[in-house]
Amino acid sequence: MANPVLFVIAHPDLGQSRANRHFAASAKSIEGVDVLDLYKVYPDMFVDGSHERHRIDGKSTIVLQFPIYWYAAPGLLKEWIDRTFSYGWAYGTNGNALKGKNLLLSIATGSEEKAYGPEGVHHHPLDEFLLPYKQTARFCGMNWLDPLVYYHARASEKDHLIAHGEKLKSRLSELVHAASKQEMSHGA
Ligand SMILES: Cc1cc2nc3c(=O)[nH]c(=O)nc-3n(C[C@H](O)[C@H](O)[C@H](O)COP(=O)(O)O)c2cc1C
Repeated sequence: MANPVLFVIAHPDLGQSRANRHFAASAKSIEGVDVLDLYKVYPDMFVDGSHERHRIDGKSTIVLQFPIYWYAAPGLLKEWIDRTFSYGWAYGTNGNALKGKNLLLSIATGSEEKAYGPEGVHHHPLDEFLLPYKQTARFCGMNWLDPLVYYHARASEKDHLIAHGEKLKSRLSELVHAASKQEMSHGA
């Protein structure tokens, strides 16, 4: 069976990253997870949509790991979605390739959680900024899973970072196990 989880890490400077680099390493340690380092694979920013669609075939879950940049994902992740989730594949006539797959966002923010509230500098809860991703999932018939959020990513305690990495690992393991259970029940 192909690895059921695709973990897409979108960070333009992973060498300087604290949180996202740690979480990408956490994901790499889990059997059943393929890790795609977008900025490494596409340094010129030209995403090969057809290649990416093949990469998703057979996956049950897509995880998007990224730092929040100006209330959204870094640009190359948007380009990846634009090029990959195409008409006739992700949506529209016969466009059901993503139907039933899970979408999990795993996000790091610079700000503390309290900054994402009516009294905070960002004025809105983080969930509201994630609406385009949520609706994209819905439009393509995907299951939206509760995002994993790591606030205050550059200044948090080391123990906290490690604990969050463990939480991500458990979540990924659960998704891998759920996929193999489903495959066994289909094969039975
Ligand atoms: C261009 C840019 C825009 C950013 N915009 C936001 C933002 O809108 N909200 C926020 O909380 N942090 C913002 N940050 C902070 C990053 O989210 C934070 O540095 C990152 O999640 C830390 O993860 P890393 O250690 O993996 O780089 C921004 C950082 C950069 C470089």
